[in-house]
Parts: sequence; C-alpha cells; structure tokens
Amino acid sequence: DAAEKGGYEHYMRKEIHEQPESLRQTLAGRLDVSAGDVDLDVSFPPGFLADLEEIRIVACGTSYYAGRYAAQLFEELAGVRATVEIASEYEFGAGRTPDRTLVVAVTQSGETADTLGAVRRANAAGARTFAVTNTLGSTVTREVDGTAFIRAGPEIGVAATKTFASQVATLAMLAVAVGRDRGALAAADARSVLKDLQGLPGAVQQVLDEEAQVREAAREYGDGEAFFFVGRALGVPVALEGALKLKEISYDHAEGFAAGELKHGPLALVTPDTPVLAVLTDGARADETMNNVTEAQTRGAPALGCVSAGDTYDTLDVSFEVPNVGVAEPLVANVYLQLFAYHVANDKGRAIDKPRNLAKSVTVE
Ligand code: G6P
Repeated sequence: DAAEKGGYEHYMRKEIHEQPESLRQTLAGRLDVSAGDVDLDVSFPPGFLADLEEIRIVACGTSYYAGRYAAQLFEELAGVRATVEIASEYEFGAGRTPDRTLVVAVTQSGETADTLGAVRRANAAGARTFAVTNTLGSTVTREVDGTAFIRAGPEIGVAATKTFASQVATLAMLAVAVGRDRGALAAADARSVLKDLQGLPGAVQQVLDEEAQVREAAREYGDGEAFFFVGRALGVPVALEGALKLKEISYDHAEGFAAGELKHGPLALVTPDTPVLAVLTDGARADETMNNVTEAQTRGAPALGCVSAGDTYDTLDVSFEVPNVGVAEPLVANVYLQLFAYHVANDKGRAIDKPRNLAKSVTVE
C-alpha cells in the first residue's frame, strides 16, 4: 500500500500531484496547434455536427461540474447551445429534435448507474450519445455511439481530482473539434485555445510547487464554521467543485455558488468565521467577482483568491497565483482548491481516501 502511494500519505495527494503527467497523457498526440485543430479519433455521421441544435451533458458529482465547465466552452468555441443535467434528473424533454441533439455522458468510471440511466433514456428517445470516460471497456462505452477517453490513469482516492482535470481538458478539445468542424471557430482562435491547453501541465506544476503556501492557508483558515466558494462564468463550476471537495473529505460545511448570488441569500451566513474562496482568473470575470468578495469582506469574512499572474487584488487575505493560460485558468485554480481541501482535511485527521458514507463508483440509482 505504502509503495503504491509512491511516498505520499494518501492517494488523493498523490493523484493531485500526478496532474501534470495525467494532463500530458490526456493531450498527447491530440493537438495540432499550428493547424488549429484537434484529433480525438472520434467521428460523427456526415453533416451531423453542422446541423447540431444542442449538446446536452449528463453526469453526476465532480463529473457534473466538469460538464458545467465544458458547456460554457461548447457555447463559446463550438457555437452550439449546450446544457448540463444532473444525470438522475435527466429526461429527453420537450421541444428537442433527437437527431439534432448530442447527449454527452461524462463519467470517470463509466459505471455510474444514474449516468447509465440517462444514456439509456437518451438512446430510447433516439438521440445520438457520446461518452467521455477514463475507463476502457466500461459499461458506458458499450451503450453510446462514440467515446473519447480522458487517459488520466487509475484514480484510487474517492474524491475525484486528476480525472476532473482530464475530463475538462478532453471536453475542451472536443469543443474545439466541434467548433472547427462546424466552421464556428476560426483557426487563429482555435490555435490560441490549444496553446493554452498545451500550457496546462506546466501551469498545474507551478501551482503544485506552491503547496507550502496552501498548507499554511489551510492551517490558518481551516477552522472556519463554513466555507463559501465563489466565481463567475468558468469560475462557477470550479467554485462548486472546490466546495464539494472540501465537504467530501473534511466534513466541513462548504457551499459553492455564482458570486453574483452572494447578495441574494448566502450573505446572511457570512461572518468572520466563514472564509470565502474565490476564483479570480481569466475566464471567470474576476473584477466583478472581486466586487462580491468585497461585500463578504465587509461582513468580516476572510477572503482567499486564486488570481491570474500579473493581476493583484490588494485586499485579499491570501492570494494564490495562477499562471496565464486563458480559458484553462479556472481549471488550474482548481488545483489550489484541491490542495486546500486536502490540507484542511489532513489537519483534522480525516479518512481522506475513503470518506465516510461515500463510494468511488455508485452503481445503484
Ligand atoms: C461518486 C464519486 C464521485 C464522482 C461521482 C461520479 O459519487 O464519489 O467522486 O464524481 O460518483 O462518478 P463518475 O465515475 O460517473 O465520474
């Protein structure tokens, strides 16, 4: 066991640290930066992508948040309406055309019963289905029309970390591929996104090199009564995922939401004992988010922010620097939030790799 953890005390920390390598594998051989194109080795019937009306992503847990990130990229890069459904809530629904809808199931294990149920409902409605998964030969791959593998390598920790990063990276490549195929994305714009993706492994490594700073912040703020995670745009799914990670492994109350919603309710809960963690990067409407963070600070809350390199928000109590990688920055910021959750939970002596009541793969609906 100790040998398998490669010197780390927990699989989760090992897997957090594997992200530069797992992301390299995810991207390997798939980016053609000079052409502004992607080769994911997937194919669709002729004309299908051009006529596409909607991409509907279905997923659970962390994979659902990867889907929330991806939906924004599909709209921005592929020029197609994209919606995300919690798999257990998914129905094909009215007003949609099955043969112009692509249902994308995002599932690390490929075995989550709720997600398989959603795929079956989509298939029954006559929609085209597609899986984004980590697991060769998994059930989902046998039930969909096409699959892209995220190639993150095995993940043992119950709390998903490296698979989230690789899911988002794979979906980002799919968004570029679909956008190029549909003529919605200019080569120059595609090139710039692909360069940012190429920069991901190195950017994540730079974050990992700052782990001591996160450990210290976890010590200083880890005893909060509750933790609020906020962001806008691509920062929203990362805020949601940051809160999920913390609650899963530390058992602390943590909530993530769109920063603009703070004033519509959660602000009533903000006190000097409720740290606020914010995504303040490119792709996450940082200045507007910071205005909301300031509202929380006015009520005495400490504020920790993940900030794009080169930007500064002087009033933050802690500022974590995120290297400049455009639309991938919130995904890099997420690594700080993973480390924060890990160290808060570790300081409390929690069973990090096997949190109470949770399972790695849930095969009942
Ligand atoms: C379980 C795990 C989560 C995971 C979710 C979806 O709840 O504890 O970490 O995000 O299932 O899993 P999947 O394999 O479908 O991505």
